[in-house]
Amino acid sequence: MSADLVIHNGRVVTPDAVLEASIAIKDGKVLAVGASEAMPPAKETFDATGLHILPGAIDDHVHFRDPGYPHKEDWESGTAAAAFGGVTCVFDMPNTIPPTADGKILAAKHAIAASKAHVDFGLYGLLGDENLATVPELLDGGIIGFKLYMGNTFGKIASPDTGATLELFEVAAASGKRVSLHAENNDIMERRQKRLMAAGIHDQFAHLAARPPVVAIEAVSRAAILAEWTGARIHVLHISSADELRPLREAKARGVDITGETCPHYLMLSTEDYTRVPGIIAVNPPVREKRNQAPIWQALLDGSIDVIATDHAPHAPEEKTRNDIWTVDCGFPGVETQMPLMLTEVNAGRMSISDYVRMSAYNPARIWGLYPRKGALLPGSDADIAIVDLGREHTIRDADIQSRSKISPWDGRKVKGLPVHTIVRGRFVMKDRTLMDTKGWGRSVHTIQQMPAPQIRNAEHTMQAITAQRSAGRREQIA
Ligand code: NCD
Ligand code: ZN
Repeated sequence: MSADLVIHNGRVVTPDAVLEASIAIKDGKVLAVGASEAMPPAKETFDATGLHILPGAIDDHVHFRDPGYPHKEDWESGTAAAAFGGVTCVFDMPNTIPPTADGKILAAKHAIAASKAHVDFGLYGLLGDENLATVPELLDGGIIGFKLYMGNTFGKIASPDTGATLELFEVAAASGKRVSLHAENNDIMERRQKRLMAAGIHDQFAHLAARPPVVAIEAVSRAAILAEWTGARIHVLHISSADELRPLREAKARGVDITGETCPHYLMLSTEDYTRVPGIIAVNPPVREKRNQAPIWQALLDGSIDVIATDHAPHAPEEKTRNDIWTVDCGFPGVETQMPLMLTEVNAGRMSISDYVRMSAYNPARIWGLYPRKGALLPGSDADIAIVDLGREHTIRDADIQSRSKISPWDGRKVKGLPVHTIVRGRFVMKDRTLMDTKGWGRSVHTIQQMPAPQIRNAEHTMQAITAQRSAGRREQIA
């Protein structure tokens, strides 16, 4: 048997080791990992001397804005950015126009993504009060998971109240799919924002003041209680504060199926950066005081936080630089810069490169039901690979990034460690820092997703069970 491609002389990184090994790829999958002399003959060989070979990153939190906001991003520019960032799979959020809330809209988004994407993708379905009835269509249409906005953010998708959230979790629990949460308490934020606005306060620190850590502590705690009751699987997005780690850890200890994500900006930026990049740094939840960084790093390293992702949230420069903070669009691009930023920390000795692979690829693949097809370089895995040069120094320049959003707090930042080639299912999508002709190569991963069987709790109390019971009773009475 011959392989399509064999990569020689690189260092293959797994979640627990770095191996000097070759990788053979055939039909888009890893055929073998082993000694170079054990590799089959190949149509093409690639010399990775001096480079590390990582499973491509899986970014479970991007906003590619398509359909809806083509001036901010679309599936082509967003996945080009992913390819440059060593990211081989992205999960796209539902706050597009229209929101990804029913089967028809989901099918349309699948078609757009499949026609433009350079990398693989999963689509989130909205779990909102208004679309409880369309959840079955979303499941049929193929979603990677659900997104529930506990608090308001860009796109202004209404936040379900606690009653609605419980019912939505009941439905999600029955599906077995994981629910990603924007875990900020809406009532607190709305009230504080209104009061600050009424007082004429509109500087950028007011955004932070409207969203103190208690909004996250409360939301994570409440979500954990509802998940524990229903058996819903939940994922806390963009963990920004030291304080919300307590309810996260406590829920994990109680056996709640709760996972967590943080992003480079919460690890590496703080309020000390606000005056350097005013407005540009505005994001939900906000970048906080420096004292939060060390505990979030600790949680990432001890596994309390499972995933490093980006919340890639592109906006146009004029939407980021308005004087009144309440009119600034929150978020900034990140899918392309996550890996170099984190590899810089690997170089600085903050963690091992195996730790990085665990949080960027292995863990996301596991918690989203994609392992070992994704997130690993094992025989039979999809050949999704980031080939990185750990010694390469680079300066991030907003003007140079692939995203349509050329404005971020990372502009001018020096990094060491850069993805130089990216492979998706055996095909180079980025080679020598050049984008390949691979538009439309990306495929939805929902077809390969296998979540463990649902672990429903308190099934007899669900609205579904109760209403079914009542209507059965009525039928008996009539008969
Ligand atoms: C995100 C966006 O722009 O879509 N913005 C943000 O500040 N994080 C929405 C979100 O993830 O909350
Ligand atoms: Zn969010």
